[in-house]
Amino acid sequence: MAPIDHEEATPHAPLHVAIVMDGNGRWAKRRGLPRQLGHPKGVDAIRRVVEAAPDHGVGWLTLYAFSTENWRRPAGEVAEVMRLLKLYVNSDLEKLARSGVRIRILGRRTGLPPDVAEIVERAERRTAGNDKFFLQVAFNYGGRADLVDAARALAADVASGRLAPEDISDELLQAKLSTDGLPDPDLVIRTSGEQRLSNFLLWESAYSEFVFQDVLWPDYNAEYLRAAIDEYNKRERRYGGAVADDVLAAG
Ligand code: FPP
Repeated sequence: MAPIDHEEATPHAPLHVAIVMDGNGRWAKRRGLPRQLGHPKGVDAIRRVVEAAPDHGVGWLTLYAFSTENWRRPAGEVAEVMRLLKLYVNSDLEKLARSGVRIRILGRRTGLPPDVAEIVERAERRTAGNDKFFLQVAFNYGGRADLVDAARALAADVASGRLAPEDISDELLQAKLSTDGLPDPDLVIRTSGEQRLSNFLLWESAYSEFVFQDVLWPDYNAEYLRAAIDEYNKRERRYGGAVADDVLAAG
């Protein structure tokens, strides 16, 4: 994987793309298969997107793989997603590490089965020195849970006298989130036609652009990613400010 040059290659590329990978179950059901058979096909789509993203100038890619609410799914399906995460790390970690990818898992570590926690830590340790491309997998992640954990950490700092309540700022809260150190996502994509955030990156997506694509995740590929980035490039981001032309006109 070549180093990313955002200025040269793709001046308008969203630096950080986050994806709600939705539609694995429906993909399988439409073929008359049990829902969980969609998930291995979802892993193939992950491989395609991880491969394609740097070519589009993307430097950070965050994938929503398992939410704090997904524990409510049938036990067999939960076990299948855990198995696939382990399989993915076991089969792809060396290649990703040698390509300069840094892997980070977002979300609560407590509650993960020990073998999954172990493999997640291995992936992070093995790639800790890399900086060509940043791949985040949100696993046992919930935006609210992350904010609750941050609030608890800040409360503990206040209780111990290390922090005064009035000193709590955007930056200090951000630093307690599991996304600490990541740029906010410029573009959030959701597949399958659903138009919801589903507890993903609640704090971080405050100013993100959203693109909803009517494709089931197992069918996702480089062309769909390109189309989402093209759509992003048509948007004008204002971060609460005014339209650039209006600012100029107002002198
Ligand atoms: C969404 O489809 C998919 C998920 C919630 C699971 C995604 C997990 C993987 C692709 C495998 C494991 C992860 C990695 C990183 C290797 P859905 O089941 O919600 O689809 P539906 O809305 O059609 O039911």
